[in-house]
Amino acid sequence: MGVRKCGTRALLEMLYLHPMVQKASGEVHFFDRDENYNKGLEWYKMQMPHSHYGQITIEKSPSYFVTPEVPERIRAMNASVKLLLIVREPVTRAISDYTQLRANAATASPATFPTPAPKTFEQLVLHSNGSVNEGYRPLAISVYHHYLHRWLEVFPREQLLIVNGDQLIEDPVPQLKRIEKFLGLESKIGSHNFYFNETKGFYCLRNETSNRCLRETKGRKHPRVDPHVVSKLRKYFGEHNQKFYELVGEDMGWPED
Ligand code: A3P
Repeated sequence: MGVRKCGTRALLEMLYLHPMVQKASGEVHFFDRDENYNKGLEWYKMQMPHSHYGQITIEKSPSYFVTPEVPERIRAMNASVKLLLIVREPVTRAISDYTQLRANAATASPATFPTPAPKTFEQLVLHSNGSVNEGYRPLAISVYHHYLHRWLEVFPREQLLIVNGDQLIEDPVPQLKRIEKFLGLESKIGSHNFYFNETKGFYCLRNETSNRCLRETKGRKHPRVDPHVVSKLRKYFGEHNQKFYELVGEDMGWPED
């Protein structure tokens, strides 16, 4: 169900290493886009891969997390569905989101004539008086409790697993073991499924037939951000993070300074 830039693709691809998991290939966007939702459940099923008896099918569309109608629409389809939410330290997530928006803007309009330099992260997250620009979308999405409370009004807490996206980067196997357990799957994914690629700076995936890393859009180099701004944002998120921890009953230990 999200959150974007927290490792949703990595999580999906890593779970797909499990023989009892099937995945939808793209992002389906059934529950968040009215034009798809109005096509009905049969259309949704047609977007799914074939699966064998006992296999679990997963899909990811990170915008589900932030779209108000989605929790109720999912419940209407299947009230016992299992949900995975991957989160990351909120400031890092915001920087990752900014990096992606900037990269997308550069590809959408390649500069053929001089264009103004894109705004820096610091310029976008702070108002000129130095206060935090809460309306800047990459910051707003990192306020996880604002969105999560809607899900917990619709689904019991036990149906939701919180995956630590920073730990998935550092050491994927323990996170995957938790997920296998949550999904009722036999433990199959292990360290034999991963190798660290020094050039990419991330773990890459291995199965019986191939080795592969995620695309270059996953694991982008982030711009350097002024440490004072990082510290200011961490303080800003401190209170929001506490609300998130209370909501999920877990302390993620994110820095508040
Ligand atoms: P960055 O590109 O900012 O580093 P999403 O798929 O939700 O868009 O998340 C993208 C993020 O997944 C990347 O953000 C990266 O940090 C993270 N990620 C986690 N595990 C990864 C892996 N093994 N390879 C590449 N990126 C990974």
